[in-house]
Amino acid sequence: MQRTRLAGPFVLGVEPFRDTPSFVRTKWGMTLMTLLRPASPNLHVYSHHALIAHKLAWLRDRRTQPAQFGQLLKEISLMLLSYATANLPSREVPVITPVGPTVQRVLAKRVGFAPILRAGAGMIPAAHELIPGAPIWYLGLYRDEATLQPVRYYDKLQGYPPVDIALILDPMLATGGSACVAAARLKEKGVETVTFVGLIAAPEGVALLSREHPDVEIYVADVDERLNERGYIVPGLGDAGDRQNATGADDPTGDPFIPEPEAVL
Ligand code: PRP
Ligand code: URA
Repeated sequence: MQRTRLAGPFVLGVEPFRDTPSFVRTKWGMTLMTLLRPASPNLHVYSHHALIAHKLAWLRDRRTQPAQFGQLLKEISLMLLSYATANLPSREVPVITPVGPTVQRVLAKRVGFAPILRAGAGMIPAAHELIPGAPIWYLGLYRDEATLQPVRYYDKLQGYPPVDIALILDPMLATGGSACVAAARLKEKGVETVTFVGLIAAPEGVALLSREHPDVEIYVADVDERLNERGYIVPGLGDAGDRQNATGADDPTGDPFIPEPEAVL
């Protein structure tokens, strides 16, 4: 396999892009894909960020094992969450430094995170690191394999104290059904501002979420080409829940999973 050697122990293979049409891998192809992205004023994509792109390439690679997958998911989530929280409302407070008094800014609203189980759970360590002590509102949703419709199976929001701003955490925005159900549930609970933070989106998911919840800002590392007939994002990364938890019988390409020990980050 052709490899490009990067700094230190980092080795980036071309393997992650093996199923991508060759024209897309060219500079012009990339530009075209960017231009063809769904036009949504609420969509924020960070595929131009060198480090996010690098980590995402490894995350997509089918050889990346669950422990590394979880670590990369956390690292990319941390970067995306820092962008998604950049404009949180703040208020002035007086602070006295060892040198003298000053006026500084602190968060003005209650912020919580709403990870969608299972895959969104992998983004919680980043959320904890960024805003320690912020409430975590688990939402249990899975997609019915036949209909691709989200099925709710866990929701304890009823008894929780309110938050003003909630960030939905889910690596994958595929049809958008799960994100729409989550956004509707958070609004029903009284959340004023809902934001979606994910890693990879399909154009279909961006379109549905933007249409049903135009007030929800969407932060993702990349927007891919399309969904396949099984509702998986192409090229995507496969099943984000299975890849974190080592529960996949196969990968959605139908190929057997062949770990290659030299694929070390
Ligand atoms: C995945 C993913 C999202 C959902 C996205 O969950 O984590 O929640 O699919 O698909 P959608 O945009 O078409 O709704 P999945 O149903 O595989 O459950 P899991 O995380 O428990 O494996
Ligand atoms: N859920 C996943 O985990 N992966 C996809 O590609 C689509 C939905």
